[in-house]
Amino acid sequence: MIKKGIILSGGMGTRMSPLTKAVNKQLLPIYDKPLIFYPLSILMLAKIKDILIIVNKGQLSQYKKIIPNGDRLGIKITYKEQNSPKGLPDAFIIGENFIGKENVALILGDNFFYGQFLSKKLLDCTKLKNGAKVLLHRVTNPEKYGVAKVKNKKITLIKEKPKKFFSDLAITGLYFFDNKVIKFAKQLKPSRRNELEITDLLNKYKKINKLTADYIGRGGAWLDTGSLDDFYKTSTFVSAVENRQGFKIACLEEISLLNKWVGKKQIKDSIKFYGNCEYSSYLKKLI
Ligand code: DAU
Repeated sequence: MIKKGIILSGGMGTRMSPLTKAVNKQLLPIYDKPLIFYPLSILMLAKIKDILIIVNKGQLSQYKKIIPNGDRLGIKITYKEQNSPKGLPDAFIIGENFIGKENVALILGDNFFYGQFLSKKLLDCTKLKNGAKVLLHRVTNPEKYGVAKVKNKKITLIKEKPKKFFSDLAITGLYFFDNKVIKFAKQLKPSRRNELEITDLLNKYKKINKLTADYIGRGGAWLDTGSLDDFYKTSTFVSAVENRQGFKIACLEEISLLNKWVGKKQIKDSIKFYGNCEYSSYLKKLI
């Protein structure tokens, strides 16, 4: 079972400037909670309790205001800073000590997943013993993502933001790796855009026949919060679902409670922590 997870939550957020000049993108609201809650909830749904959050230099104190530690959630949170956005595989170099000898999941701080049976799929992915696993999702604009071509259930080609169409299967920002990922990440050279590329890392696994894929499926949603427009579309999606059902998406305390990682006491602590707000009223209803 994969028990450790990394959230890569840095980046310059230049695509959303000026909004992201003072505040990191992952701390901005997707409807009623900061964006970071959503990827964190995904790791928690995968029953991952030991989590490293990588933030960009200078933002640590802001993150700690909203997620000071994992105590109220019954999980362990560690923070590390990334000096500059060197690329996604840098997470495994920064996280080397955190990962130790174990396997690890990586989720990008700006990725949103939702759907029925998602928790089961996530738990299946954490069973990975060796190799790497990616989750694919069909999109209409593959040129914006890492893309995979699949033949007979095998990935035959992977490219980052391909200019020429070869598949509509985007590689989502949730990855599962064995411990070799640290060694492989260290071997990577920066690409033409001067970043370590996740697709180069995945290609290393493909070369040794150890790259597998699963699908989110059409009943599930993988939304991108990359651009301003996508950001607001995701917010609208959350608002529509939550207001219709009365259930919150990515309520961290609710997941902890369901996982039996916390009891009434910690939920009460959370209510105190958030203060008098609609989120707290929801927490009150849980207990
Ligand atoms: O969202 C899925 C896509 O994410 C994948 O399909 C692509 O293969 C992958 O390269 C990535 O593409 P993006 O263009 O969306 O990556 P971006 O540079 O926007 O970074 C994604 C998140 O990771 C963002 O929240 C900022 C954070 N980040 C990024 C880099 C490069 C860091 O914290 N540090 C970094 O060094």
